[in-house]
Amino acid sequence: MTAVLTPRQQHCLDGIGITAWRPRPAVDAAELKPIAEAIPAQSGQPRSAPPVQSHQPSAPAESKPATPRPTVMPVELELNDWEQTLQAIEACTQCDLARTCTRKVPGKGFQQADVLIIGEAPGHDEDIQGKPFVGRAGQLLDKMLAAIGLSTESVYITNILKCRPPGNRDPQVDEIAACAQFLRAQIKLVAPKVILSVGRISAQNLLGQQSPLGRLRTQQHVLPGTDIPLLVTYHPAYLLRTPSEKAKSWEDLKALHRLLHLD
Ligand code: URA
Repeated sequence: MTAVLTPRQQHCLDGIGITAWRPRPAVDAAELKPIAEAIPAQSGQPRSAPPVQSHQPSAPAESKPATPRPTVMPVELELNDWEQTLQAIEACTQCDLARTCTRKVPGKGFQQADVLIIGEAPGHDEDIQGKPFVGRAGQLLDKMLAAIGLSTESVYITNILKCRPPGNRDPQVDEIAACAQFLRAQIKLVAPKVILSVGRISAQNLLGQQSPLGRLRTQQHVLPGTDIPLLVTYHPAYLLRTPSEKAKSWEDLKALHRLLHLD
């Protein structure tokens, strides 16, 4: 079966470098793992809290496993609204990244968006501008969203970490733990219809799963502890390095489009 693209969609696909695509094969729900049930919500946390797990800082790109939680947990803050949350991110010194980053990068976009996009951590450009996904990867993300009729302003975009790790190294266990309460607050405040998790570090930490990204993106998920559907896709920086995977990311975007009932 070949779906017909509108000229605008075709134009957007050309923009992100996809020249041909195939429809996604139907996923048999019986084959999927009951991920939300497999990961109990942590006691004392709101229902929307993702069970943030850490991962090995030295692990390689898209296939490395996550690692256990840190033993030292950060101070829990009152984060009941956007003002408290953004101020707390700005004031945060709970890990060393606060000293090494240029600017905090809390998030951008529509605070009541249907779609919440969660990446890994700010890079060089984001660190300077104080906004997520403004570099080359962000430009590709914008085009990917446009391909399904979403503007950057209509979604909310944030990261697992709000500060740039030096040299763009992988986030460390304590850093992820220190930032987790901000992400939990943002998820609660946005209350999205769908979460789009981009990249391995985002997906593994949100789901508390160690599976490789290539597997996670083919499975159906809800954010553990909530009933929010969560889609996993490739990080746009990975797509810039590996354009041959763009066709798969287009399948993920179409799944997002379907979930939003835009079809
Ligand atoms: N990569 C990310 O994961 N987030 C950003 O904000 C920029 C690049």
